[in-house]
Amino acid sequence: MRVFVAGATGAIGKQLVPRLVEAGHEVSGMTRRGSKQAMLSELGALPVVADALDPDQVADAVGRTKPDVIVHQLTAIGPLDPRHFDRDFAQTNRLRTEGTDYLLSAGQAVGVRRFVAQSYGAWPYVRTGGPVKTEEDPLDPSPAREMRETLAAIRHLEGVVLHARWTEGIVLRYGAFYGPGTSMAPGAEQFEVVRKRKFPLVGDGGGVWSFIHIADAADATVAAVEHGSTGVYNVVDDDPAPVAEWLPALAQTLGAKKPRRVPRFLGRLFAGEAGVVMMTEARGASNAKAKRELAWRPAHPSWRQGFTAA
Ligand SMILES: NC(=O)c1ccc[n+]([C@@H]2O[C@H](COP(=O)([O-])OP(=O)(O)OC[C@H]3O[C@@H](n4cnc5c(N)ncnc54)[C@H](OP(=O)(O)O)[C@@H]3O)[C@@H](O)[C@H]2O)c1
Repeated sequence: MRVFVAGATGAIGKQLVPRLVEAGHEVSGMTRRGSKQAMLSELGALPVVADALDPDQVADAVGRTKPDVIVHQLTAIGPLDPRHFDRDFAQTNRLRTEGTDYLLSAGQAVGVRRFVAQSYGAWPYVRTGGPVKTEEDPLDPSPAREMRETLAAIRHLEGVVLHARWTEGIVLRYGAFYGPGTSMAPGAEQFEVVRKRKFPLVGDGGGVWSFIHIADAADATVAAVEHGSTGVYNVVDDDPAPVAEWLPALAQTLGAKKPRRVPRFLGRLFAGEAGVVMMTEARGASNAKAKRELAWRPAHPSWRQGFTAA
């Protein structure tokens, strides 16, 4: 198939493009920057330069390459201060709202038969009931104040993709990425924060997180491109775990001291309501549907071994 990857140069894109090429697909990779064309060629893609927030450039890029499938992996996540969650996600939120709309209309104009889009499968789920959520469970009806715009952008992306009747709209709710090229890798930002003991355990650390190795996320995406059907898939590992479990284990893996413990009220001061929610109330996700319907298995079934290998 001809596959158009928006976000081809990012953490997931760099893993995804070579896998699609290896599977025999003809891949176009989108970037804003002419300077990244050579990198895309090396990955095996035809480079296409366009700004995802310019509808004419997107329509032209998609129109010229006439893909069968579009994969939307556009994000712009810089350093994150959870006290200003929506502010730090503002550009990603634009890519998830306007960016999705532009890619969809460009795709409709050339009649793409499948549209696969990146979403998130950990903190957006409802914070009541069991610790692990399936795709049938609702998203959080009352997110922390600083996370409202970000959740609204996720809802927008999912809504327009799933309701596009002219194509097969597929939403992949990835867990938290770790591994090469992500911020959770040796020497990278998040691992360093834990290693330097600057990531404390807030309250009971009961928030449940779902992780996914970036290579496994890419494998699941190839499966979705090839034989996914309209709907949502959680792309997470087999081992959702509370912060109180994975954070000390990660610290140990990194040879760091045990994380500090801080009460909720102090956590709120340093990490805001969003930080406290993620540390104490977030829910994890189940990968049963992705395994069943995409015939996919994570090569790193648990972060317990995965973090060591990362
Ligand atoms: N599920 C998760 O846990 C998750 C999800 C996403 C990201 N992350 C993490 O967040 C960190 C940073 O990720 P990131 O999203 O900032 O960067 P990234 O991984 O480099 O990916 C961003 C991608 O989006 C493209 N892009 C962004 N704005 C664009 C625009 N206006 N027009 C065209 N393309 C555009 C970039 O292309 P060009 O720069 O080449 O134009 C790039 O390919 C990484 O550690 C990653 O692992 C985690």
